[in-house]
Amino acid sequence: MIDLRSDTVTRPTAGMREAMASAEVGDDVYGEDPTVTALEAEVAALFGHEAALFAPTGSMANQIALQLLVPPGDELLCDADAHVVTYEIGAAAAYGGISSRTWPAVGADLDPDVVAGMVRPDGYFAVPTRAIAVEQTHNRGGGGVIPLGVLRRLREVADEHGLALHCDGARIWHAHVADGVPLSEYGALFDTLSVCLSKGLGAPVGSLVVGSAEQIARARFVRKRMGGGMRQVGVLAAAGRYALAHHVERLAADHAKAARLAEAIAPFGVLAGRVRTNIVPLDLTKHPLDARRFAAAARERGVLVSVLGPRTARLVTHLDVSDTQITQATEALTQTLRA
Ligand SMILES: Cc1ncc(COP(=O)(O)O)c(C=O)c1O
Repeated sequence: MIDLRSDTVTRPTAGMREAMASAEVGDDVYGEDPTVTALEAEVAALFGHEAALFAPTGSMANQIALQLLVPPGDELLCDADAHVVTYEIGAAAAYGGISSRTWPAVGADLDPDVVAGMVRPDGYFAVPTRAIAVEQTHNRGGGGVIPLGVLRRLREVADEHGLALHCDGARIWHAHVADGVPLSEYGALFDTLSVCLSKGLGAPVGSLVVGSAEQIARARFVRKRMGGGMRQVGVLAAAGRYALAHHVERLAADHAKAARLAEAIAPFGVLAGRVRTNIVPLDLTKHPLDARRFAAAARERGVLVSVLGPRTARLVTHLDVSDTQITQATEALTQTLRA
């Protein structure tokens, strides 16, 4: 099977497993795991922030950050398709008491003026807006990249209204490679970021919250409260350090594979939007197959795809699909769409 469901399906490479096996470890709840400490310092420096905190998942990293920025009862603004309000099972409300309001799903086609128009002022008669969250790249938005200029304007909006800005940067590495924007330049625009090592970078586990020293001290407390204090977790941090050293620049190859898939599929009229990174979104509204039947037929031809909605499917390229497999997948998918 060629697995194009998600970039989370990758398995650790031999080099990564070696790095994990030889990692120096200690009890990280006591702050004594040197590999975790090194990873945290490395990631903070990449984004030009003071500190970072290792978390087991991207969802926990996002939710820790949101709890730092939005007090219970106050409001977060984000895209209606954002991971934080779509796939985190109501965590912002359940754990942080956070009220969320969304702008209509636009993926990476964010309009800062629309966001500015949604901000509610501080006061006792309306829910005060405290933070804005964006996703870079945008998962349900087909791996779209929000342009740097748009993010700069959004930072101005946040500053004009005294709001914090969070980036769900699960795939910020892909944006960095696609647009050539230094990670530190992204980092400078946000109060907090969450970044994942377990998506395109190929580590089995691990995300980080990035922010100021004061925020990360609080984040450590929130993580422990959420049950995310981990012990000899340097074995996992070592996988993350390996991924940062070896798997960032190679994302360009995953983007090229996605572009090949998109080009092959384009004649069938199901490509939803321009493919910029490693995600190929499919809109089957006008195709005889709906998403479930498309996925079942593709599986019969040896390709696994994701079903995101009745007529929405997705292909994702990653470290564990070779160029040859992309050629095979292209043939299988075009046959499926032609049938
Ligand atoms: C944009 C985005 N944010 C956050 C996450 C959450 O990551 P995790 O599955 O590690 O909780 C994902 C997962 O795919 C994601 O795509």
